[in-house]
Amino acid sequence: MDAVRQHYEIYPYPRYPLLASIRRSDTSHLKLSRLWARWNGCKLPKANRQILIAGCGSFAPYPFSLANPDCRITALDLSAATIKRARLHCLLHLRLNVRFVVGNLLDSQTAPGPFGLIDAYGVLHHLPDPLAGLLALKQRMTGNGLLRIMLYSHGARSGTEAARRALRRLQVQDLPTLEALYKRLPQGSRLAERLGETPEGNTDHGLADAFLHPQVTVYRVAELKPLITASGLELLVFSHPGALTDTATEWQRLSLQEANGDLDTNFVLLLRKTTTA
Ligand SMILES: C[S@@+](CC[C@H](N)C(=O)[O-])C[C@H]1O[C@@H](n2cnc3c(N)ncnc32)[C@H](O)[C@@H]1O
Repeated sequence: MDAVRQHYEIYPYPRYPLLASIRRSDTSHLKLSRLWARWNGCKLPKANRQILIAGCGSFAPYPFSLANPDCRITALDLSAATIKRARLHCLLHLRLNVRFVVGNLLDSQTAPGPFGLIDAYGVLHHLPDPLAGLLALKQRMTGNGLLRIMLYSHGARSGTEAARRALRRLQVQDLPTLEALYKRLPQGSRLAERLGETPEGNTDHGLADAFLHPQVTVYRVAELKPLITASGLELLVFSHPGALTDTATEWQRLSLQEANGDLDTNFVLLLRKTTTA
């Protein structure tokens, strides 16, 4: 865990300009009252207007605050440098309903909740035991509470993962060394191609997150299902780009895409803690 923390102390993710702004209308998919009404079929109880952004990174608290001015938001991250930047981004945009906490989501004393909505986007796959993380978040959810997670898929990440592992074997641990290596690589080599084709590869935070990360798990479709089952949470819907609304059909579509070698999205899921779970 310390290696992950140290990574994000050096390379907070993402590193958008502090004055970068978005329109409230573009954040409606993050609005708790809307999600609650859609999936629980009733008005959000006042007591449940609490949101936890677990592994918040340096930007997400801003759009969540914009979407949810009527909620109390807790932004939790392992890295103090990340929290510092996230806090500054919110302050500069006068988003004041966010409490910032440096800490580990595995520690049950930290931000115990309960929360009506938890967001852990791109976080659990950086834990040594992602299921333990999922269960730790479930503990913090209200009855009928919602949890959005994003997990890396084997399909979307296999090329990046091969390059990341190769770079670790070469003991490339910082961006200047990575950039110097990239310049020396023969054009057309597989590693050069991987480095060149990475989404966000034109940013320091994107390169560092893709290639210098010390801890990554990727999931095949067949591994995702047991993880969700073991958590005891209910899968409501997939929300990655192109996902079908019916979950049974989406499992089939994902399996087929994976078998054909053309699965190119990570998995985004909305889960619910049923009152009996
Ligand atoms: C890839 S970033 C994603 C940030 C944000 N969720 C987003 O979507 O932009 C992962 C973040 O999770 C944080 N993180 C990783 N493990 C954590 C843990 N055990 N507890 C709290 N935060 C953690 C990291 O410090 C990092 O800021």
